[in-house]
Amino acid sequence: MTNRIYIKDLKNHIGNEVVIAGWVDVRRDQGKMVFVDMRDMTGLVQGVVLPNSPAIDTAKEIRPEWVLKITGKVNQRPERNIKVGVLNGDIELEVLNIEVLNKAETIPFEISGDTREIGEEVRMKYKYIDLRSKRMQDNIRMRDKIISFFRNHMHRNDFVEIETPMLMKGTPEGSREYLVPSRLENGKFYALPQSPQQFKQLSMVAGFEKYFQIARCMRDEDTRGDRQPEFTQLDYEMSFVDQEEVLSFTEPMFIELIKTLYPNKKITSIPFPRLTYAESMEKYGSDKPDLRENKEDPDELAFCWIVDFPMFEKLEDGTLQAQHHPFCSVKPEDKEKFMTGTDLLSIRANAYDLVLNGYELSSGSIRIHNSEEQKQVFNLLGIPEEVQQLKFAHMLEAFTFGCPPHGGFAPGIDRVVMILQNEPNIREVIAFPKTGEGKDLMMGAPSVMPTKQITELGIKIIN
Ligand code: AMO
Repeated sequence: MTNRIYIKDLKNHIGNEVVIAGWVDVRRDQGKMVFVDMRDMTGLVQGVVLPNSPAIDTAKEIRPEWVLKITGKVNQRPERNIKVGVLNGDIELEVLNIEVLNKAETIPFEISGDTREIGEEVRMKYKYIDLRSKRMQDNIRMRDKIISFFRNHMHRNDFVEIETPMLMKGTPEGSREYLVPSRLENGKFYALPQSPQQFKQLSMVAGFEKYFQIARCMRDEDTRGDRQPEFTQLDYEMSFVDQEEVLSFTEPMFIELIKTLYPNKKITSIPFPRLTYAESMEKYGSDKPDLRENKEDPDELAFCWIVDFPMFEKLEDGTLQAQHHPFCSVKPEDKEKFMTGTDLLSIRANAYDLVLNGYELSSGSIRIHNSEEQKQVFNLLGIPEEVQQLKFAHMLEAFTFGCPPHGGFAPGIDRVVMILQNEPNIREVIAFPKTGEGKDLMMGAPSVMPTKQITELGIKIIN
């Protein structure tokens, strides 16, 4: 539509005839006159269709959410009708012509208010309608601004964005993996990445030194308010850095993010307090303490660092597991216990978390960059040599070809946006999220697949 004007720009066209396009937000038939509030991606404007307007008959037919192209004259509102502090509160559009671009059925729920009050199932089924509401538009547009801030910040600091594969062999990040069957090699599977962990480390071996990615991650775990099966990380890795350098790169980035995009919010303490894992557990009984002074204040942000995480933990069944992941290096003071395999649960890793208002925002570590140490982790975890070779030969080998010391971090973008937008749940800041049972109610995924497609994959469904 070549001559279309955005609704937010109408104020620059007072006295002129203009064309706008968008959705009918509200229509009020006053008998003689009809008011049509129009909405586009930039905002709302009140349209008035006067009794003598050529558009009056059409105006009487139109319904909310119809899609219209309107020609009209931008008028200053009479003094007594001015709404102060509202976009276009001082102007209105005198409607001269209405072209109906598309009609709409009555939408399944109201979108003028806070759609959180509406049952989530129906919002999920009609996600594209939920997304029309102002709150959801704001959430998704702020998410874009946050991602764009991070991306610019990374580029300004000489990081290179590298896209890593979605079809891979799996990363031991502690969760169940989603598997994708191979058609060309029946009986074999790809795993979807739980994170780009191995690829970002291999990018360091490849000499990129500063990698980042707005990375999609997939984990087949039970969902919760702060967890989705698909989510996004600001994933980064740096060569020749120690823990201090990762922390002192990350902290100012978050402070600048808040100053730039959320100037009304206040950070409780700068520099962010630092606690060791042991201190945090002892003092708060948690490794993600909520350090806000006033937990009712929606604009308070209490960041804190938790450092010196244990390298290993014991699961309920007694098996030993890497607490973060098996690629973390151990603290120099604990190296001897590590190499000799003594008192494993007391060994601390060069691993750190960033916590915000009681949520784990991010985890990271300084990695192992030496094959012998990496094998020692696998040995202590009781992974037999053949399995080590089968699963991790590429990492062990890469470490022998000039791997620089390196470390990194991976803030969860969904959690960052959730907290900054004062949402109780990451589903509210993801455009097309899944339910607690991992379902996409709009598309109907997961779904049954045609037998032909499944047979090609060499798969037989056991009921
Ligand atoms: P980790 O597994 O701790 O570390 O994940 C890092 C951050 O990603 C976010 N996150 C999630 N967000 C939404 N839904 C989920 N299911 C989910 N799981 C994790 C959190 C979390 O803090 N490769 C390492 C990072 C590294 O060592 O550099 C990793 O993925 O905000």
